Amino acid sequence: MRLNDEVALVTGGGRGIGRAIALKFAQEGAHLAVAGRTASSLEEVASEIRTLGRQALVLPCDVSDDGAVREMVRQAEARFGRIDILVNNAGYFTTNAPLHQMPDSEWDQTLRMNLTSVFYVCRAALPGMMARRRGSIIMMSSIAARAAFPFSAPYAVTKAGLLGLTRSLAAEAGPYGIRVNALCPGVVLGTEMHHKVNREIEKMSGIGPEKRLEAARHSLLLRRLPTAEDVAATALFLASPDSGIMTGQALNVDGGSRLD
Ligand SMILES: NC(=O)c1ccc[n+]([C@@H]2O[C@H](COP(=O)([O-])OP(=O)(O)OC[C@H]3O[C@@H](n4cnc5c(N)ncnc54)[C@H](OP(=O)(O)O)[C@@H]3O)[C@@H](O)[C@H]2O)c1
Repeated sequence: MRLNDEVALVTGGGRGIGRAIALKFAQEGAHLAVAGRTASSLEEVASEIRTLGRQALVLPCDVSDDGAVREMVRQAEARFGRIDILVNNAGYFTTNAPLHQMPDSEWDQTLRMNLTSVFYVCRAALPGMMARRRGSIIMMSSIAARAAFPFSAPYAVTKAGLLGLTRSLAAEAGPYGIRVNALCPGVVLGTEMHHKVNREIEKMSGIGPEKRLEAARHSLLLRRLPTAEDVAATALFLASPDSGIMTGQALNVDGGSRLD
């Protein structure tokens, strides 16, 4: 087991990529705190984690609310005594619009949900990690940070911002033995976010998902789009001692669309 008795906090752990990461970590021996706004989906994941023989704590929390985030971290540390691994996975996909028509509300919401929230969670969790002089923090960025997609500029801005945060925090936290790395998934099939992306792109371009995804698949070096399990496997690598010498890095999990 790669994470025996480690304690991981996964935001957005109730569905999609976050759920896959929480279950993968539990299979590898970790105890989990899973956070999100919808308690019912978190309870389902927690029950699956307990079935795997690991402990699970459900933390209903809106990560864009600093007070709620502080309470979330306090409860996780009170229950488990520490957080060894933090996965900043919770995220929001912008409702598409050309930049010259982008409403303030959509810009503000995307920055608050995807970037400010991660600042809040890291700020709350770092003192405990620094005191114990160990930790692994994983940021869920996106290939959107590195590619050029139209009509969702706020999303790309936040995901690129996370790469800047990864580097800055890696420099600050490295002397305390804390590693900070990022994942940049491509289109992850089957997630609610993917369904929203499909609806938004169809609205703007008139091109349906089947045709577009077939073209996308063909453009990939591996001719295969990533799954939530692919992302979870890479998150496990970043969380585990296997990547113990790596910090400040961003790994593409995309089937080979970007080589930077
Ligand atoms: N799917 C993709 O193709 C793709 C590609 C690249 C990167 N990503 C990134 O991967 C991450 C997970 O995406 P996904 O595809 O699994 O999305 P998803 O199915 O829409 O899940 C998003 C998760 O985040 C939680 N969440 C959203 N806003 C939150 C908030 N303010 N406070 C607490 N929890 C919140 C949601 O739970 P509640 O709604 O219950 O709060 C849900 O568990 C995101 O950061 C996304 O940007 C996804």
